[in-house]
Amino acid sequence: MSEFSDSAKLLIDNQEIDLDVYTGVEGERSIDITSLYKDHQLTTYDPSLGNTAICRSSITYIDGERGVLRYRGIPIEQFDRPKPNFIEVAWALIFGRLPDQEELDQFREILTNNELLHEGMLGQFMTLPVDAPPMAILSAMISMMACYHKEFLLLEDEKILMGAAARLISKVRTIAAFTYRRSMGLPFIYPDPNMRYCANFLHMMFSLPYKQFAVSEEMEDALNLILILHADHEQNCSASAVRVVCSAQANLFASCSAGVNALWGPLHGGANVKVMEMLESIYRGGYRAEDCIKAAKDRNNPFRLFGFGHRVYRNYDPRAKILKSACDRLFNKLKHNDPLLDIARKLEELALKDPYFVDRKLYPNVDFYSGILLRAMGIPTNMFTVMFAMGRLPGWIAQWKEQHFADGAKIIRPRQLYVGNPKSNYIEMERR
Ligand code: ACO
Repeated sequence: MSEFSDSAKLLIDNQEIDLDVYTGVEGERSIDITSLYKDHQLTTYDPSLGNTAICRSSITYIDGERGVLRYRGIPIEQFDRPKPNFIEVAWALIFGRLPDQEELDQFREILTNNELLHEGMLGQFMTLPVDAPPMAILSAMISMMACYHKEFLLLEDEKILMGAAARLISKVRTIAAFTYRRSMGLPFIYPDPNMRYCANFLHMMFSLPYKQFAVSEEMEDALNLILILHADHEQNCSASAVRVVCSAQANLFASCSAGVNALWGPLHGGANVKVMEMLESIYRGGYRAEDCIKAAKDRNNPFRLFGFGHRVYRNYDPRAKILKSACDRLFNKLKHNDPLLDIARKLEELALKDPYFVDRKLYPNVDFYSGILLRAMGIPTNMFTVMFAMGRLPGWIAQWKEQHFADGAKIIRPRQLYVGNPKSNYIEMERR
């Protein structure tokens, strides 16, 4: 980013205030208001931060108007074919460029050597209720890593950071699979060091002690793709949560655990569950897609078309486009049918020509098709947001690293517009 390329003037109380304007590498402009409070006791009002750039970042670029998403400058579409590789993308997001073979092999080796959980941690895991929400288990277990891996609480060196990142990415997969197995009353299947990340996850999820699950190439590729498409999305709710916690110089585990909790919400990562619930209830109730679109437009009806709309994209979410064709590919290859996919396609077709959705620029987002793909792999709905978290973890680590090592990084501490009582007196209990 250039230092500043332009300036803006703010006129207030007959006083002109000069403000620098920065330009990002893609031409986006940002007014620097950092001195407004210090010099003029003025704050800016932006309650959901929809208009505030909270950092300089070189990880991910989004152009929501044009439906563009790039990781480290590479368009997301280029990670689709021929063989997507989640671990390669994770390395690139965290370390800033595509790895060479030696770097990738070294990273993979750390992942493989650290896929088991510390026995003490496993003991703690077994004390959690079997039917606890999987996202609550995940956030608790990531927090707990700070108890069992104290050597990674201080990450000032890139090599140590790599060790921490690899452990997190590796162990989160084991935690996710063990959470599912325990909830089903099934024995744990330990990771197989000879398997790649995605195949190994499917093995831990679905193998039996007496019968190895046959992971098809199509399923492995589809899972790789889902994880890649979720790997980062610049300053979204959970990434911002990670940055806020990190800015207090909290450790990587504490910060990523906060990211999991933010992602859990239905307006963020939890939306993929809502999409499936919506499609299932349309299917079971035998409702017509036309009536659902009508209900979604009705202000007096709380029904929303989940998987539609996005704070940043005012165009087709490029991830949804890729997932839609991945669904077509996988379903064709496996000769698989899912009535929910037919309903989703119909809803999309109707919405994309309906003035309500067109005028508001509401298009399918990443969650609209990801659930259908996960369901085709046999992943249960209550694990969908955990799958999103597995994919997003490299992004959180990259955002943490950038925040932690940023020049002059300070604790993130927004201001407020106070609208409460003016100064008032404390009243004794008996006089209230
Ligand atoms: N169905 C029907 N109407 C919608 C939808 C929808 N899915 N999304 C937005 N609208 C309408 C709103 O009612 C509003 O209409 P109005 O102008 O008449 O009041 C208008 O479109 C603008 O919507 P906002 O809620 O102001 O948009 P915002 O940018 O704040 O919210 C959000 C974005 C939260 C994603 C919203 O579109 C939504 O709730 N979508 C459904 C949930 C979802 O799919 N979330 C996943 C997001 S992707 C992710 O986190 C990975």
